Amino acid sequence: MRVLIMGASGMLGTDLQQEWTQDKIIPASSRDADIRDATQVRALVNRAKPEWIVLTAAYTDVDGSERNPDLAFAVNGQGTENVARVANELGIRLFYVSTDYLYDGNSTRPYEPADPIAPLNVYGASKAAGEKAVQDHAGAWCIARTSWLFGAAGASFPEKILRAAETQRELMVVADQTGSPTFTRDLARAIRDLARKDVRGIVNITNAGACTWCEFAGEVLRQAGRSSVRVSPITTAQAARLARRPAYSVLSPASLHAHGITLRGWQDATAAYLQDLRACGKLS
Ligand SMILES: NC(=O)c1ccc[n+]([C@@H]2O[C@H](COP(=O)([O-])OP(=O)(O)OC[C@H]3O[C@@H](n4cnc5c(N)ncnc54)[C@H](OP(=O)(O)O)[C@@H]3O)[C@@H](O)[C@H]2O)c1
Repeated sequence: MRVLIMGASGMLGTDLQQEWTQDKIIPASSRDADIRDATQVRALVNRAKPEWIVLTAAYTDVDGSERNPDLAFAVNGQGTENVARVANELGIRLFYVSTDYLYDGNSTRPYEPADPIAPLNVYGASKAAGEKAVQDHAGAWCIARTSWLFGAAGASFPEKILRAAETQRELMVVADQTGSPTFTRDLARAIRDLARKDVRGIVNITNAGACTWCEFAGEVLRQAGRSSVRVSPITTAQAARLARRPAYSVLSPASLHAHGITLRGWQDATAAYLQDLRACGKLS
């Protein structure tokens, strides 16, 4: 099978390339095709001739999306539609990576794929537009909703915590948002397995369990042997970020379990992530 990964230079895209060894992988970044340009997308896909396109390419700056909604919608909405239309034209299956920020966070139980979406911020709305484009224009598609990604190939939350802990004795971290941290290596394996099983529809993929950002930071520091740095809880309002974020965005694993796939807990995934950081020299 030939698989075109669009977004291969990103955090998840890098791990997808490492984990997907069973098939012929064709990696592409914005230098190969800017997804906002349908002509560039068509030329790339025609050259690659894949059976699957995995679309991880996105404008992922959540606060930046508030400042520049046109860019967020151009990439995440129109860009995704361009890929979906080309995939349909050429009879190629499309795997789209979506987000927990589709939800307003008012739920009191983990979200199922059929629950109504109501994004609180521009980034979430632009990814919702991307999902709709996939459903309306791609012929054969699978959408994976995931959350709170971390991986050694990106400058994600745990790495920022470790960097901050080098110079500060106390870190103030948000304690009123609950979600499921997800290791990009684990997510990559699940995407690969779902695509190889030819799964269709919407599937939630996160590491098991849930926590607040504050608890996640504490666990990262504990496992990295930096427990002397204090993690103090603050509210979302105190953090004063530009984009609103859901207070609760835990995704139910039932849709993933239905395909015989289970992900480890986020604490075990954190341990594996720290090993990756050590292996690439980002952590001593
Ligand atoms: N990060 C999270 O916490 C999180 C949570 C839930 C869902 N997601 C979703 O998961 C996916 C992967 O996220 P990530 O954090 O791995 O992303 P990332 O590291 O920010 O990488 C983004 C990728 O998108 C490409 N890209 C950006 N604009 C493009 C354009 N106009 N045309 C073509 N390619 C473009 C980038 O290519 P260049 O390097 O060439 O610019 C890069 O490969 C995204 O769809 C994101 O929405 C992320």
